[in-house]
Amino acid sequence: MVDRNGWGRERPAPTGAPRSPPAAFVEQANVTDEEIYEAFDENWPACWERAAELLTWNEPYDTVLEAEDAPFYRWFTGGTLNASYNCLDRHLEAGRKTHTAIRWEGKRGERETYTYRDLYVEVNELAAALRALGVGEDDAVTIYLPMIPELPIAMLACARIGAPHSVVFAGLSSEALATRMDAAESEYLITCDGYYRRGDAFNQKAKTDNARIALEQDVQTIVVDRLGDDLPHVLGENERDYDDFREAFEGETVEPVPRDAEDMLFLMYTSGTTGQPKGVVHSTGGYLAHVAWTSHAVLDVKPEDTYWCAADIGWITGHSYIVYGPLALGTTTVMYEGTPDYPDRGRLWEIVDRNAVDVFYTAPTAIRAFMKWGEEFPEGYDLSSLRLLGSVGEPISSRPWRWYHEHIGNEECPIVDTWWQTETGAITVSTLPGIDEMKPGAAGPALPGTDARVVDDSGDEVGPDEAGYLVLARPWPGMARTLYDGDDRFVAEYWRRFSDPGDDRWWYESGDAARIDADGYITILGRVDDVINASGHRLSTMEIESAITNVDGVAEAAVVGRSNATAETEIYAYVSTDGHNDPDAAIREAIVENVEATIGPIARPEQVIFTPELPKTRSGKIMRRLLEDVANGEELGDTSALRNPEIVGEIQAEIFGADAVDE
Ligand code: WT7
Repeated sequence: MVDRNGWGRERPAPTGAPRSPPAAFVEQANVTDEEIYEAFDENWPACWERAAELLTWNEPYDTVLEAEDAPFYRWFTGGTLNASYNCLDRHLEAGRKTHTAIRWEGKRGERETYTYRDLYVEVNELAAALRALGVGEDDAVTIYLPMIPELPIAMLACARIGAPHSVVFAGLSSEALATRMDAAESEYLITCDGYYRRGDAFNQKAKTDNARIALEQDVQTIVVDRLGDDLPHVLGENERDYDDFREAFEGETVEPVPRDAEDMLFLMYTSGTTGQPKGVVHSTGGYLAHVAWTSHAVLDVKPEDTYWCAADIGWITGHSYIVYGPLALGTTTVMYEGTPDYPDRGRLWEIVDRNAVDVFYTAPTAIRAFMKWGEEFPEGYDLSSLRLLGSVGEPISSRPWRWYHEHIGNEECPIVDTWWQTETGAITVSTLPGIDEMKPGAAGPALPGTDARVVDDSGDEVGPDEAGYLVLARPWPGMARTLYDGDDRFVAEYWRRFSDPGDDRWWYESGDAARIDADGYITILGRVDDVINASGHRLSTMEIESAITNVDGVAEAAVVGRSNATAETEIYAYVSTDGHNDPDAAIREAIVENVEATIGPIARPEQVIFTPELPKTRSGKIMRRLLEDVANGEELGDTSALRNPEIVGEIQAEIFGADAVDE
């Protein structure tokens, strides 16, 4: 191992015994040709035309891949297309206007069905209204909405007029919203009055108002009325009611604007290793082709399916696999606003049963919760409509894998464990369910045409089953094109460490550790950078630390992830106060409050541990890895390189009690 502290927390058990996909699944699978891996290799990059062929182009592309300006790769150049046309109009033209596009399940048991025609009408009206408001091509529109139908409608309306959207997860704070709007220079905002949270009406508009006050630019705001009389709101200057705004353009249609394949479809902010979130830029052609292809080849989506990705559209998973992938393929996509345990723990299975869901895609953190709650909940429902199950967001170890396989899939559904990232845009590592064996615990091989490798600190490939850094050694169509904050940061973040420009070698650094077995199956070991993956939410340690150090009386802070008994990652914050302040309950409360106010409740520290000093190297660098080992109760190894080794015992005593340390 090249870096004792470098690898993620997760130490997965050896993968389970391989299983073949069930014959009944294979018989009907979209992709079953075993030669596909070789065929893609031999015919690279032209093989990716298979993805582009799933779309309808206004102008055909001339070149599949232009690599002259690597790592600024360009895919399907010369081609033009519109994402909203591909997700709507072409399905109407194919006679599928009455087919259900979105099946919405609200938090309070409400249900709404949008046919492709309904969706087309509302998207067009909103697109017309946005254009009349002054939104032009390439103007970034921020969307700050919970899981209500207006969210995908707004995304598609933006796509229709060539305005990139920047969706900010509704649970993020007003400060997080302001930072993202500021960074994207966004002057348009689509939000709502509020939404229901734990049964209460939660005021989203108040957060929006605070963000707008913090911004220099004037912001034109459109407010969806989600709560009605449960939370009356008043519209101020530059604010419009969504229904009035759209209905003024009733029945109007807007020609979908042909976009260059490389034009930006959207921006998605994600946490990086510094406090400043990264504005990941996704293209129109390559992105849409890649999400459509992976929805087809990995998630096995068919137009007649009812498909459900139980994620939030506020993150990349929902963009790619609730909205763009499934709608491009013309399927029915389920959109669920609620939580898995309300009104009871059988809620998801009730939705699967009632809608006869064919494909279900969720995160390991949810699967672990289902497992904890017990199989009696799924057993109460008919889940026999399910054909395929998916997992995404963190490693799924073999026990929850087997539970999911047995109790949800009745041992008849293959499971695809899909590895990808905000930056990859679409799935890049997974088994192909109609071809490959599954190994519980390992995600699978790199997709055809994709080249994943594991390297050591010097960028040399390591042997089978050895841990190292996961890199992607070939470009792929859905890849991020740049960071909105600048090309330099894009290169610095992803293309410096393992690339060799002199040799024209461009290897994408994923930030994950992994190992690859002799069959090419990849086991993900977790993040190796200063990013914490907590319940599938990606958080930057620096971002949380700066929210903590902004609290009066705090001198320094270090934040790490700790894996608890049920393998959930919790946030531990180590804090030292300045000379004038004794750590007390008030500071602790202020810390938690400020983290929630600056980032959102998802970043709330589970534990705040006060210490007179943080452990540091002689050069003054905080030893975060060491603190991570302490939080996880790991053996610490040599601490002699520390300037203040004695502090480690004090911290352990603080967490585990003095007795535990003396033993
Ligand atoms: C990070 C990306 C794109 C999905 C949602 C998260 C982790 C993702 C897996 C998987 C193990 C996984 C990685 C990755 N991750 N999928 N199947 N097995 N780890 O997107 O917020 O950009 O986070 O999620 O650590 O780097 P994201």
